[in-house]
Amino acid sequence: MPPVITNVDDLHAIYRRRVPKMFYDYCQSGSWTEQTYRENESDFDLIRLRQRVAVDMEGRSTATTMIGREVAMPVALAPVGLTGMQHADGEILAAKAAEAAGVPFTLSTMSICSIEDVAEHTTKPFWFQLYVMRDEDFVDRLIERARAAGCDALVLTLDLQILGQRHKDLKNGLSAPPKLTPASVANMMTKIGWGLNMLQTKRRFFGNIVGHAKGVENAASLASWTNEQFDPRLDWEKVRRIKEKWGGKLILKGILDAEDARMALQVGADAIIVSNHGGRQLDGALSSIRMLPEIVDAVGDKIEVHMDGGVRSGQDVLKAVALGARGTYIGRAFIYGLGAMGQKGVAQTLEVIRKELDTTMALCGEKDVHDLGPHNLLVPKGFRGEWEPHGRNG
Ligand SMILES: Cc1cc2nc3c(=O)[nH]c(=O)nc-3n(C[C@H](O)[C@H](O)[C@H](O)COP(=O)(O)O)c2cc1C
Repeated sequence: MPPVITNVDDLHAIYRRRVPKMFYDYCQSGSWTEQTYRENESDFDLIRLRQRVAVDMEGRSTATTMIGREVAMPVALAPVGLTGMQHADGEILAAKAAEAAGVPFTLSTMSICSIEDVAEHTTKPFWFQLYVMRDEDFVDRLIERARAAGCDALVLTLDLQILGQRHKDLKNGLSAPPKLTPASVANMMTKIGWGLNMLQTKRRFFGNIVGHAKGVENAASLASWTNEQFDPRLDWEKVRRIKEKWGGKLILKGILDAEDARMALQVGADAIIVSNHGGRQLDGALSSIRMLPEIVDAVGDKIEVHMDGGVRSGQDVLKAVALGARGTYIGRAFIYGLGAMGQKGVAQTLEVIRKELDTTMALCGEKDVHDLGPHNLLVPKGFRGEWEPHGRNG
């Protein structure tokens, strides 16, 4: 009997059993003490919902748009590096599940399947997430390749000029393909389904990079290339240049401060993603859901505000939308589904979230996702103002 999946935690439990420890840990960690990673989730729990009754609930709709694109619900798949190590051909499978569910898929620069691989196996445009590298030719070519593949938005990540330290990845010697050490081999031998699938695919390297960037022919040179290549000089001027080069819809990811949100507005982005990279970069930063209202207040009437970080259920989606997000992204939640049961698992993640969103809307007395607002929520005093910038120039 296949397991009965009723929530995202069910998929997480199966994922944990099926995927090698190195990749499970890569997904399931934040930087340093993991405070921000934990609070991304736990801060959602501080927000409660207002139950309303005797409202006609027939004909509900979760459909909306994100940067003009019709979506079945305000949810997209976040860019997740090494997705193709969580399950063979993971990016292709996740993109197909997203397409079937009517939500956008975002492909990471650090994916295993390439831009072209994903384009070949899907019929609708997906979004491409760009990391800015020192090698400008390579960045230009990535932009060209995304355009040629029909991507209809560029998601430019701004919060990873240098890498936040995640202890487990260093201890596990994370790499793609995985380094064969006695410990990693012993662990992989217990993940038979994962291994058999991996043996059947050729896609085990960083597909957007190996063979496309000068001097990167294999994984060994790739590790040093990545460490040296993320561009620490990325600034607003570069963001402007990339916007011009791309010429299409631009989403800026990793905004966690109202000042930066105003800068994003000035450079003419189409949307921002309030995000702290799932708690993987600046540990000690506030959670995305806590920062969302202030950023919506600052720019929400002029630019679409999206958010990610800690979204594990349709109730989380509802809370974010009620606080002003036009859309949300799920990272770990879809990886749980993918690692648990491939494309079907991602489809299950999305279906669980859609149902939870729909049911919660109904019990809050709302029929249309566009009508959600602060009136649906009970937010503890101090949720917004408990922390303040310290000092006069804060
Ligand atoms: C395993 C993993 C890999 C990630 N890789 C990328 C990446 O390559 N590019 C990027 O912009 N964000 C990356 N992120 C951040 C996600 O896009 C997203 O911001 C985050 O996962 C949202 O938090 P959540 O996982 O709690 O949903 C990654 C996150 C995880 C968990």
